[in-house]
Amino acid sequence: MSIRRITDDLLYVGVSERRLALFENVYPIPAGVSYNSYLLLDQQTVLLDTVDRRLSDCFYDNVKEALGGRKLDFVVVQHMEPDHCASLAGLLLRWPEAIIVCNKKTVVMMKQFFPELKQEGRLYVVGEGDVLSVGKHTLTFVMAPMVHWPEVMVTFDSTDGTLFSADGFGGFGAINGNLFADQVDLTAGYMDEMRRYYTNIVGKYGTQVQALLKKAAALPIKRICPLHGLVWREDLDQILGKYDLWSRYIPEEKGVVIAYASVYGNTEQTVNLLAGYLADAGVRNIKMYDVSATHPSYILADAFRYSHVVFASTTYNAGIFVNMENLLHDLAAHNWQGRTLAFIENGTWAPTSGKLMRDIVGGLKGMTVLDETLTLKSSLAPGQEEQLQVMATAIASGILPTSAQPVETTASTLDPSAMFKLSYGLFLLSTKEKGKDNGCIINTVTQLTSKPQQVAIAVNKANLTHDMVKAAGIFNVSVLTERVPFEVFKQFGFQSGRDTDKFEGVNSVARSENGLLYLTEYTNAYLSCQVVSTIDCGTHTLFIAQVTAGAVLSSDPSVTYAYYFAHIKPRPRPAQEKEKKKGYVCKICGYVYEGETLPDDFVCPLCKHGAEDFEKIE
Ligand code: FEO
Repeated sequence: MSIRRITDDLLYVGVSERRLALFENVYPIPAGVSYNSYLLLDQQTVLLDTVDRRLSDCFYDNVKEALGGRKLDFVVVQHMEPDHCASLAGLLLRWPEAIIVCNKKTVVMMKQFFPELKQEGRLYVVGEGDVLSVGKHTLTFVMAPMVHWPEVMVTFDSTDGTLFSADGFGGFGAINGNLFADQVDLTAGYMDEMRRYYTNIVGKYGTQVQALLKKAAALPIKRICPLHGLVWREDLDQILGKYDLWSRYIPEEKGVVIAYASVYGNTEQTVNLLAGYLADAGVRNIKMYDVSATHPSYILADAFRYSHVVFASTTYNAGIFVNMENLLHDLAAHNWQGRTLAFIENGTWAPTSGKLMRDIVGGLKGMTVLDETLTLKSSLAPGQEEQLQVMATAIASGILPTSAQPVETTASTLDPSAMFKLSYGLFLLSTKEKGKDNGCIINTVTQLTSKPQQVAIAVNKANLTHDMVKAAGIFNVSVLTERVPFEVFKQFGFQSGRDTDKFEGVNSVARSENGLLYLTEYTNAYLSCQVVSTIDCGTHTLFIAQVTAGAVLSSDPSVTYAYYFAHIKPRPRPAQEKEKKKGYVCKICGYVYEGETLPDDFVCPLCKHGAEDFEKIE
C-alpha cells in the first residue's frame, strides 16, 4: 500500500516500479519510475488517471483503501498513454458506476486501446475551460496538446490551487516514501532525472510546452501533481523556470559536452587532450561521454543543459560510428537547437564522419558551428595539438566571461566629435521576466552574421531592461520609424520600469511567438532574439543574440538618430531660450544639469545616458 496524504481531501494512490529496466522500452530507469494517481475525496469522489498494467493490482488496492467504502464517481483521463491508462478498463470493472471525464480526442484513443469498453452513458466530455464541481472543489480542464500526446489535458483545482499536470513537471525515479520535492535533496540526482525525463519524453514539443506555461501563468498554482515523480508544493518558480528554459531550448549553463565514439582509443585520447586544454583555459563544466558506454538519453539531457557540444567520431563503414549516428539523429528528432558545435573526425584512409555529423545537426535551428573542425588520420599527428588548442580557445571564448578592457585614449588622440559621425538607428528593446513586461529605447542594434542570423545590442547597465534581458535570455527589438512621436521616447526612455509599468496605456502592441511584446505602430519591423553570449563593456553589456523570428510591419523608413534630433525632439521655445540656465544639457532627453563642471561619471537621471551625451549650454 503506498497511499500518501497531500491535503485533507487529496490522497496519492499511485505506484512505484523498481524492476523495470527500460521506460517506454527505451530509457534506462536505474532508480525506477512512479505512475502517479490522485484521489480527491469531496461530496463526490474523483480519481485522476490510473497506472501502468504491470502494477494494476497494487493500484486497485490503493484506490479501494483510499475510498474507504465510498463509490467512485469520476475518473479523469488526462493522458491516454498506457503508462497512465492501461488500468482504466480494470478500474471500471471494479467501479462500474464511475463516469469517465475526458476530451473528444481521448474518446477516439480510448476506443482504439479498449474496443470492448462500453462508452455510452459513462462519458463526460470536456473542452478548454470546462469545469466540474464535485462539492467544495471545482476542477477546470485545460487542453495541453502534444505535451506529450495530442489528447493531453491538465486539470486545475481552483479551490486549493492544485495543478494536476499530466506528464508535465514529471521525473524518473520511484517514490521512496518522500512524495514531495521539498523533502529530498534535488541536487542529489532528482533534478537530473527531471531534465532527462523532460528532454527525452517531451523535449521535441517546446512550442506546445510554452503554450501550456502561458496558460499556467494565469493560474494561482500552489502545488503541482504530475503523473511521474515528486509533487511540488514549494519553490514552484524553480521548476517553472527550468521548464521555461528547456522548452525554449536555452542552455541552463555555459559548459561543454564532449560526446565521442572511439574504437581503438585514438579519438578518445584526442578528446581527453581537448578537455585538458579547456580546463587549462578555465572551463569548469566539462562533461565527457563515450557514446558506446552511456545511453543517449543521458547525453541528450546534458546537450539540452549546456551551451557547447563537441562531437568526435571515427569513420565507420564510410559513415558515422553507429552509436554516434544514433545519438545525432536522436538530438535532431528532439528539436534540439541553439547550441555552439565543434566536430572531430577520424579515419585511417577516408575520414568522412565530420561532414556527415555536420549534415545531421549542424543545420538545425540556431546552431553555430565553429570553423575549427579537426580531421585525424588514425591518431593525432605531431603538430595537430595546435589545432586542438585553437578549438579549445574558440570554445572557451564562448563560455568564459569576457570583459572588454578599455584602451586608454587622450584628448590629443580622440576628437570627441569624431564619434558623432557614426550613424545609429533607434529601437524599442522589450523583454519579460517573472511575468513583468518592460522595455527601453536603445540606439545600438547591429546585424553580426546572416548564417545564422545574429545581432548585437548594447544596453546600459543602469536600465532595468538590461537586468531583465540578462535574466530572461530573450528580447524583442521594434525598429522605430520616422513617424514615431516624441511621446514614445518619453514613455520608454525617460522613466524607469522599476517604478512604472511602461506598457500601461500603450495599445499598439502585440505579443510575438516568444511571449514578448513589440510595437505595432511607429515600427516597420520587429525581431525576436535569443541571447547566446554577453560581453561586459563597462557601463554597457553587449548582448549577442540569435534572431528566432521577425516580421516586416510597414514600409515607413527607419528613424535615425540624426532624424530624431532634427525632426522629433522638441526644440526649446524662444522664451525658454531667454531664461536658459547655465550648465549642460542631455542631448538625448533634454535634461539640464546646472553647474559649472559636469562630472565625468555623471549619468542622466532621466534617460541614463552618460556624460559623453551632454553638451555645454553656451
Ligand atoms: Fe507518462 Fe506520456 O506518458
